[in-house]
Amino acid sequence: MLTQLFIWTAVAILVGAFLLRPKRTPFPIVNKYPYDFLRRRAACEAQQNARKLITEGLAKHQGPITMNLLHGQKIILPASSASWVKSNKDLDHKQLVKDDYFAGVPGFEAQSVLHGDDETVKRLITTKMGQNDSTMGAMNDSLARAFRVHWGEDKEWHSINWHGDTMGIIARAASSVFVGPELGDDPTWLCLIQGYVMSYFMAVYDLHAYPPWSRSIVHWFLPNAKACRSMVPQARAIVNGVLRKRQEETERAMKEGSSAPEYNDAIAWAQASSNGKIEPGDLQLSLAMAALFTTTELFRTILIDTVRHPELVEPLREEVSEQISKHGISLAATNNMLLLDSFMKESQRLSAGLVVLERAVLRDTALPDGRILPRGSQIVVDSTNICDPSFYPNPDQFDGYRFLRKREAGDTTSQFVQSSEDFYVFGGGRHVCPGRFFASIELKLALAHILLKYDMRFAEGCDPKPMMNGLYAMVDPTVQLEVRRRRDGAVVNNLGEKL
Ligand code: HEM
Repeated sequence: MLTQLFIWTAVAILVGAFLLRPKRTPFPIVNKYPYDFLRRRAACEAQQNARKLITEGLAKHQGPITMNLLHGQKIILPASSASWVKSNKDLDHKQLVKDDYFAGVPGFEAQSVLHGDDETVKRLITTKMGQNDSTMGAMNDSLARAFRVHWGEDKEWHSINWHGDTMGIIARAASSVFVGPELGDDPTWLCLIQGYVMSYFMAVYDLHAYPPWSRSIVHWFLPNAKACRSMVPQARAIVNGVLRKRQEETERAMKEGSSAPEYNDAIAWAQASSNGKIEPGDLQLSLAMAALFTTTELFRTILIDTVRHPELVEPLREEVSEQISKHGISLAATNNMLLLDSFMKESQRLSAGLVVLERAVLRDTALPDGRILPRGSQIVVDSTNICDPSFYPNPDQFDGYRFLRKREAGDTTSQFVQSSEDFYVFGGGRHVCPGRFFASIELKLALAHILLKYDMRFAEGCDPKPMMNGLYAMVDPTVQLEVRRRRDGAVVNNLGEKL
C-alpha cells in the first residue's frame, strides 16, 4: 500500500515537472554554458552581469534574445518594441505577476487580491487615491509625526537608520490614507505591514531558487513564507476590529440622532465599493505590498541625490515654501512644485532597472516581424532609451532641471507621473502603475518636510554606489545618512509647524 502511494506520488511529481517544463524559446540564449545543466552559472551571470549580457546580446542578434534567470527564462525585446508591447492585449502584466510572485500560495493572499480579476483594488487606487485633495491634510500631519519619531528634533547632526527610518516614514504617510486614523500611527500595525512586505518579497526570492515543480510543497517549510502565513490572520483581526468599532460608532450616532461619522480612507472606500467581497485585512496587505517597497526605494534614491547636489537644495526649498504658502497643503501646491517634480524624475531615470513592461504571453503571438512569442513565455523590454543620448543629452549626468526645461520647451510627457517612449519606469498601456499619482504626492510632501525642516549629509567616508540585483536596480543598503533639525528657527513654515 505504502509502496503504491510512493510510486503514484513520484509519477505525479514527474508528470507535474514535465507539464511545467519551460517551453523552448525561439530566440538565442545569451547565457548558456557547457555542462551547466542546472543553469547555476547562467543564473549567476544574469545576477551579476545582466547589463553586459543584454547590451551585447541585442547588438549581436539584432532582435529578441533570451536570458536564463534563477527562476526561469525571460525573452528580452529591443527598446523599439515598447509601444507594440504596451498596446498588445495578448501580453499581460497581471498574469506575469501572478506567476512570478506566486499568487495562490497560502500567506500570499495579498497578491491575489491586488491582481484580482474584478480589479477592485486597482479601481480603488485609480478613483480614490490618484488626485485626492481631501486626504492631503491627514497625510501631511502623519508625515510631521513620522519625522518627529524617525528623524527627531535634535539640532546636532545624528545618524538615522537608513533602512528602518526611510520605510517607516513612507509606511506612516501611506497608512494615513490606507488604514485611517485608528491604525495610521499604531506601532503594532506599522510593524505588521512592513514585516509582511519584507517577508513576502524575501519568500518570493527564496522560492525562485527552487525548481517550479517543487514550489507548491517547498513554500510550506520556508521561514519567510511561514511568517507571511502567520501575519495574514493578524492583519484580518486588527482591521476587522476597526470595522466593528466604526460600526458601533455609527449605531451610537444614529441612536443619539446625530450624524454618522464619516471616514475618508481605503478601509471605508473598500467597504463601500467591494460589498464585503474582499477580506479587509487582505486588502490592506495588498496596498502595502504595492506601495511600500517601490515608494521607499525611490524615496531613498532621491535622498541620496539631494545630498549629492547641495546646489539644488536652496532652489527646491524656495519652490516648496512658495507653493505651500500660496496654496496650502493641496494638490495645487504639489502640482506646481515643478523643479521638485523634475528632480524626482531625474532621480528615477538614473536609478531605473534594465527592463520595463514585463508581460506574460497569453497565447502564441506574432511579433511585427512575424516571429512567434510562444504562449506561456515571459517577455520584458530593454529600457536603454532612458540613458540614450539621442533622448537625453549627457545621459549619465544628473541634471535636476532636465525635465523642467523639457516641460518649459513644450514637451507634454515630462511630468513625474507620465510615461513616454523613452520613459517606461511606471510601465505603460492598460497596466501602467495606477499608484504613481499617490506616490508622487507622498514623495513631494515628504521631501517638503525634509527641505523645510532638516539638513542632511552622508557620514564620513560614505559614498553610495548604484547596485543591481539581476535585471533590477536596488538602492545601496549600506548608506549612512546624518540629519539635523534646521537652526533658522524664526522662519514659520507652512507645514503647520514652527522650525
Ligand atoms: C515610486 C513608486 C512606484 C513605482 C516605481 C511603481 C512601478 C510600477 C510598475 C513598473 C508597474 C507595472 C506597470 C507596467 O508594466 O505597465 C506597476 C503596477 C502597479 N502598481 Fe505601481 N509603482 C509605484 C507605486 C505604487 C503605489 C503607491 C501603488 C498603490 C497605491 C501601486 C500600485 C500598482 C498596481 C495595483 C499595479 C498593477 C497594475 C496592473 O497590473 O494593471 N504602485 N507599478
